[in-house]
Formats: sequence, structure tokens, C-alpha cells
Amino acid sequence: MQNKTIIICLIISQLLVSVFSSAGGQANCTGVAAGTDCASVCGVPTVAGTGTTACSWVSSSTLTTCTVTDCTCLTTGTVTGITNLNDQFCTSCKGSTSNTYANGAGTACVAASASCNSTIRGTTAWTVGDCTVCTPTTPALVGSTCKACNTISSAWTDANCAACASTSTPKGNTNFANSAGTACVNASATCASGSRGTTAANAWTAADCLACTPATPAVQFGASPATTSSCVACNTINSGWTDANCNSCAMAASPQTKNIVAKADGSACVAAVFSCTQSARGSNKWTNADCAACNGTAANANQYASADGSTCQATQASSTFSGQIFVSILLVLSALLI
Ligand SMILES: *[C@@H]1O[C@H](CO)[C@@H](O)[C@H](O)[C@H]1NC(C)=O
Ligand SMILES: *[C@@H]1O[C@H](CO)[C@@H](O)[C@H](O)[C@H]1NC(C)=O
Ligand SMILES: *[C@@H]1O[C@H](CO)[C@@H](O)[C@H](O)[C@H]1NC(C)=O
Ligand SMILES: *[C@@H]1O[C@H](CO)[C@@H](O)[C@H](O)[C@H]1NC(C)=O
Repeated sequence: MQNKTIIICLIISQLLVSVFSSAGGQANCTGVAAGTDCASVCGVPTVAGTGTTACSWVSSSTLTTCTVTDCTCLTTGTVTGITNLNDQFCTSCKGSTSNTYANGAGTACVAASASCNSTIRGTTAWTVGDCTVCTPTTPALVGSTCKACNTISSAWTDANCAACASTSTPKGNTNFANSAGTACVNASATCASGSRGTTAANAWTAADCLACTPATPAVQFGASPATTSSCVACNTINSGWTDANCNSCAMAASPQTKNIVAKADGSACVAAVFSCTQSARGSNKWTNADCAACNGTAANANQYASADGSTCQATQASSTFSGQIFVSILLVLSALLI
């Protein structure tokens, strides 16, 4: 019984040690030679808050590398801020992460590909990814310099757009550069022409044509091979209109129009409230206006909504059930007012 208790206590204390303390891995601190003091050359971060513990390095007597005594000094207590982190400390405490380098502000360890400190980085070229994690306020890369997003007005790249979207507050969705490179847009994939429209998988959508190339906002699918697609101007289309192309052309028009859906016969775009296609319309009821817009107003064109709004018909429906309720309510209200 006693033995079991001791074993359980041992297991629990082992668990506590593994949960509450975590010695760092090896890091090289410039100037540490065999027998020198890691604490004097490696540098420790300042951890602000209540109930925090000081960070320290294990002194090295024989080794030329140093280790942080306990990496939980970064998280113990109620931490309100960390400053003065350096690459050595991050390297020692990265654990299984790739957060090997201190960010530019020295407030967090990040997964950069090289030091965020230009002096240490030396001639290693900056990448957009490193700009983003090292200096989130200048997350884009122009030439060889990390830049703030609001300083860029031309030559946008997908990488810079993604960097700026990921660091904006709230996080943005304009991850791709438009075809002119003048802005970042909410396309579903790159606007780069060589990477779009060549197969069924990378087909253009009308929404992407509108976002990437506003002057050619409609999509047209190639006849041969049928898997190709391209963005075209609205005035090149005279049949086969789709809701998506109508919507794109309505949005690209100046001023914008309300002709957002395709007529039932695909001959034009019209200002119906919901699609002229029953499947796309879903449970939205037909109205006289939508039936007329979708089907035209020629005799027997089914330009009127049926009484229950489930379909269009050739003759005007007589007073509808909902109309009767409306009249009844009016009568009750007027009776109450009198
Ligand atoms: C420390 O430096 C040695 C010798 O340059 C190198 O082999 C080792 O990988 C370095 N360790 C770390 C953690 O950077
Ligand atoms: C960058 O590294 C140099 C050389 O180690 C150091 O003197 C300087 O303080 C570092 N700068 C920052 C901002 O940490
Ligand atoms: C971004 O594009 C997607 C797909 O086209 C769309 O569903 C979404 O509403 C757009 N978001 C904004 C904010 O425009
Ligand atoms: C539009 O009119 C055609 C021809 O009468 C008809 O076949 C079609 O069902 C009508 N559309 C709707 C949504 O009722």
C-alpha cells in the first residue's frame, strides 16, 4: 500500500516537473568559449506582469553552447508583456516549433527563415514571409525592404497582398493582386493569366473576372478545348447569359445596374429580384414583376405569378390568400381605430 502511494507520488511529481518546468535546448551565444558564463553573454528577456519568474541561462563550465534554465519563465504568472527576446533565447526555447528567431520588437519568437535583426541577418535576402512575421507593421516586401501596406500603390504581387491581408485588423480577404497590379482583390485564386483559364480546375469565374479584370468582367468558356475559359467584355455577349455574368456586368457598369439575373431564355440580363432559374431561385416566391422580367410580357409568356407564388402563368391570378389576410388586417385595424 505504502509502496503504491510512493509510486503514485513519484508519477505525479514527474508529471508536475514535465508540465511546470522545461529546460531549454542548446543555443550558441557569441563569445561563449569553454568555461565561460552563459548568463553574462546570452541575454535574457524581461517578463512583465504579476507572479512572473526571471529567465536565466545555465552556466556552462565545459560546453561552448548554453541552455535556458527553464523556458516556462515566458509563461509563468500573469504575463503582460515580454521584451528583449533574442535569437539565442528563442533557439533554446523553441521546443518542437520552428520559432527560432526573435521578432523585430523582441516581443515574441517567430518562425522566420533567418534572423529578424538586420545586423545579424547580414546579406541574407529578406522574404515577404520574414517581413510579415518579423515586422507585422511592414509586412510587404518591395525590392529588398520590408514596407507598410499603405505605402504601396502599384506593382502589387500575390505574396504582398496575402501578407497585407493576413496582418490587417480585422484579417482581410483580398489575398490576390488584380491583373493590373494596382490593388489587392477578393478573388478565389490568383489573377495571373498564365495560371488561370487553361484547365477545368483553374477555370475563371465571373466573380474573379470582375475582381481581376473589371473591363472584362464576364467569363466565357472555350468551345475547343471546352476546358479553357477567359474573361470577356460584356458587349461581346449576346446570348447564353448566366446569372453570374449578369451580376458581374451589372456591378462593372458605371453606374451599376440592377440587371443582375439572366432572362429565362438567356437572351439578356434583367432586373428580377431573384434568379429566373427555378433551382437557383429556391424557395423564393415568384412575383408578377419577376415573372414579367424573366419571361417577358408578350401574350402567353407566363408573365404573371400564380396565386401561391410557386410558378409563373399566362393569366393574372385573382386576389391572393395573403392579399385577403392583408385586407382583413386593415379592416380589423380600422375597426379598432374607430
Ligand atoms: C552551435 O555552433 C556549432 C558550431 O558552429 C554548430 O555545429 C551547432 O549546430 C550550433 N548549435 C545551434 C543550436 O545553433
Ligand atoms: C541586433 O543585433 C546586434 C548584434 O548582435 C545587437 O547589437 C542589436 O542590439 C540587435 N538589435 C536589436 C533591435 O535587437
Ligand atoms: C469574397 O469573395 C467570396 C467568393 O466570391 C464571396 O463569397 C465573399 O462574399 C467575398 N467577400 C467580400 C467581403 O467581398
Ligand atoms: C416562362 O415562360 C415559358 C413559356 O411559356 C414557360 O415554359 C416557363 O415555365 C416560364 N417560366 C417560368 C419560371 O414559369
